[in-house]
Amino acid sequence: MLAGKRIVLGVTGGIAAYKAVEVSRRLVDAGAHVVPVMTAGAEHFIGRTTLSALASEPVQTSLWDEASPIPHTRLGQGADLILVAPATARLLAAYAAGLSTDLLTNVLLATRAPVVVCPAMHTEMWEHPAVQANIATLRARGVHIVEPESGRLAGGDVGAGRLAAPEHIVAAVDAVLGGAGELAGLHVVVSAGGTREPIDAVRVIANRSSGKQGYAVAAEAAARGARVTLVSTVELPVPTGCTVVPVETAAQMQAAMEATAPGADVVVMSAAVADFRPVAAAEGKIKKDQGIPQIVLESTPDILAGLGAAKPAGQVLVGFAAETGDLVANATGKLERKRLDLIVANDVSAPGVGFQHDTNAVTLLRAGAPGEPAAATTVALTDKRSIARAVLDAVVEIRRGQTPPA
Ligand SMILES: Cc1cc2nc3c(=O)[nH]c(=O)nc-3n(C[C@H](O)[C@H](O)[C@H](O)COP(=O)(O)O)c2cc1C
Repeated sequence: MLAGKRIVLGVTGGIAAYKAVEVSRRLVDAGAHVVPVMTAGAEHFIGRTTLSALASEPVQTSLWDEASPIPHTRLGQGADLILVAPATARLLAAYAAGLSTDLLTNVLLATRAPVVVCPAMHTEMWEHPAVQANIATLRARGVHIVEPESGRLAGGDVGAGRLAAPEHIVAAVDAVLGGAGELAGLHVVVSAGGTREPIDAVRVIANRSSGKQGYAVAAEAAARGARVTLVSTVELPVPTGCTVVPVETAAQMQAAMEATAPGADVVVMSAAVADFRPVAAAEGKIKKDQGIPQIVLESTPDILAGLGAAKPAGQVLVGFAAETGDLVANATGKLERKRLDLIVANDVSAPGVGFQHDTNAVTLLRAGAPGEPAAATTVALTDKRSIARAVLDAVVEIRRGQTPPA
């Protein structure tokens, strides 16, 4: 869907500006017409000549000195899509506030085209509440945010804030323009977060799952063109293209999964479902002066095993295994018992891995042919979006293996 599209590429003054040149080259190679706009800040990082040479026309930088008398409205009105990569904290703030002091912010305000913004900055800046509030504002207005990745940053620092890889930015642009991504036409159901089982009116049995890994899988599936249903116990920003079904308890999650999974092409059960729940929740709040309550527990339904038992032909079912012991042996047992196609196992006792972190390290175990061992691939510590990519790459491979040769 990129061929023939007119894309304004805004480049701002971050260290990742040099990667915008590669983004531009890829868009042009895919047949898009790239109109480059640089801020004055960006000119400290890359030369106009480089970007002009690899875009479709010369770079524009100013409201005042261009050949066109009204570049501030003409560019935005004529665009099929505006892409800002990299987007500085300054640009995000100006765009969120509607502050049109330079050519790029004018273009962003004077358009009805879809906008894709790719923030990049140091971790402290990215995590600052002001930046996050601006991201939330833009997202609520329908701006597509391609989240930064974790990795090496300028000055030798490591953390979240690195510009998403050029191929992922181009894939996101393609998906926003309605391009047929790898998962186009497929329905993907993802569960995310930890369940909460009520003890009384105010207390619950919960677990440490943040839902971040499930949301990353959902966002990646949507970016690859899938229709995504996200069954979630947590309130995180809803990734573009996903429909959320909010749930709280294991029973509610089971009902939601049983309602959505049968028609799905891919089911990814990344939620951390409680294994036990109180037999009955007390009415009202249990008072301190009532003495120490005896809470009797019962097992919750094994949702994943149920999905495995009822799995329709052709569906790819993915489970997660948070382990602290023999990772591969435990996960392989689960893979076989629950009739999964793929299990994503992580050792949650390792630093930076699993619950609540922004990073994860996993072993992907694929079901082998009957009698054959599971095939294992390890993904070293990285951000959860990169883990999501590895999971969906494996799903795409499994689907290819299922398709009978033409
Ligand atoms: C070496 C260097 C690297 C910078 N990298 C970033 C960055 O990655 N992200 C960011 O938001 N700001 C970064 N800044 C700060 C911006 O350049 C500064 O806020 C500038 O006003 C942004 O202008 P612009 O948004 O108009 O391009 C950097 C500054 C310097 C000197």
